[in-house]
Amino acid sequence: MGKEQRYDPFSAEILDDPFPFYKSLRNDCPLHKHNDFSHPLYTMTRYEDVAEMLTDVETWSSHYGQMPRYSVQGCLFSDPPEHTWYRNLIQKSFAPRHVASMEDEITVLVKELVDEMERESKGDLHDALACPLPVLVIAKILGIPTKDIDQFKAWSDAQLAASKSPNAEDSKAPREAMNSYLLEQLDIRRSALKNAGLDINDMSDQPIGKIIPDDVISGILLAEVDNRMLSDTERLVMLNQLLVGGNETTTSLLTNLFWRLLSNRELYEQIKCDPSLYTVAVEESLRFDAPVLGLYRTNTSDIDLHGIRVPERSKVMATYAAANRDPNIFEDPDTFRLDRELEDLRKHLSFGLGRHFCPGAQLSRLEARLALQEVAERFPKLRLTTKSERIEPFLLWGRKSLPVAWD
Ligand code: HEM
Repeated sequence: MGKEQRYDPFSAEILDDPFPFYKSLRNDCPLHKHNDFSHPLYTMTRYEDVAEMLTDVETWSSHYGQMPRYSVQGCLFSDPPEHTWYRNLIQKSFAPRHVASMEDEITVLVKELVDEMERESKGDLHDALACPLPVLVIAKILGIPTKDIDQFKAWSDAQLAASKSPNAEDSKAPREAMNSYLLEQLDIRRSALKNAGLDINDMSDQPIGKIIPDDVISGILLAEVDNRMLSDTERLVMLNQLLVGGNETTTSLLTNLFWRLLSNRELYEQIKCDPSLYTVAVEESLRFDAPVLGLYRTNTSDIDLHGIRVPERSKVMATYAAANRDPNIFEDPDTFRLDRELEDLRKHLSFGLGRHFCPGAQLSRLEARLALQEVAERFPKLRLTTKSERIEPFLLWGRKSLPVAWD
């Protein structure tokens, strides 16, 4: 039986290493239907199809969420014009200039984590660096006080772990705890404005950076969409979408990057000798090991594609990880190479494409480059010690631990 015929997106065999299956699907079954599900579920794997799907937002809606099941969250998980209103709210915080201005602060965070590692001779790169770094960075951007960061990370992990459970109730407790904490943060800022005699509905005198801190929580508190203030429910949805979207994904980028460089020692040696390769290595890691394997869209009308009729309201996975290894776009796609041109590499779809293109792309690239630089300079003997395992959520791809030694 061909690999494409055995394709079941939820099976253990595919979770373990999906790439040979993607190859087979790309070649022989570019639009695969999974029959064993409550509603029509498809997988799309060719680069051109995936790119077309991501840019045609009228046909391929995000309104019903990015998961195999239908769910309506709103805010960024929506279609234009609604999507555009919410997207504009976060544009400033993730604009390339603003992200670039964080380089020094992120460097300090990386150095502190690597200093901590240096006290030992071996450890887990996931726990010591890849996992804490994105949480520390996003907490800074949002405006979470340092003292609350450990608690904050625990809630964010618990929500992610629960997202793979068939029981939707599992994610309720950590989500509620996180939400009441974020509401508290909104209230602290509301009180500061009130004490200064300011009316939140009439902000002619911009208080950000003067009365309340210049961070994302303050920005979202005062933001308007479609000529009205956001409700607290919308504010929480936005903050959650930023948190859930950014943490595990960047952690996976970091673990995948070191995992591949250390699995083929020659690559790590090359990096150490040539710092100009840091940026290429990060981009090649994104291409080769997409941290989000793919996300779903829902079609708004019947579609005929590759001789198959996809009925309206089907769920179809835009499989970035498969598109990234399409030989029509990338030469020798199944090899991790450091001699690719950056311009070619950046065609990868690991951050999506079009209107929903990841707003955190620059930030996560910067974190990965700075982490690679610090580790390569300080740990020339870095090596893998034991086998690592993949993280569990079926749409994500990263290592849940990365045991290494550096002495
Ligand atoms: C390596 C790290 C990351 C990867 C691989 C990644 C991947 C993605 C992808 C594939 C999308 C497109 C979703 C779609 O088309 O429906 C996306 C959107 C998004 N990402 Fe990221 N992301 C990363 C880092 C981040 C970071 C650091 C943040 C925030 C701090 C973030 C926040 C978001 C948000 C809010 C969206 C929704 C945007 C929209 O729908 O308009 N991501 N990300």
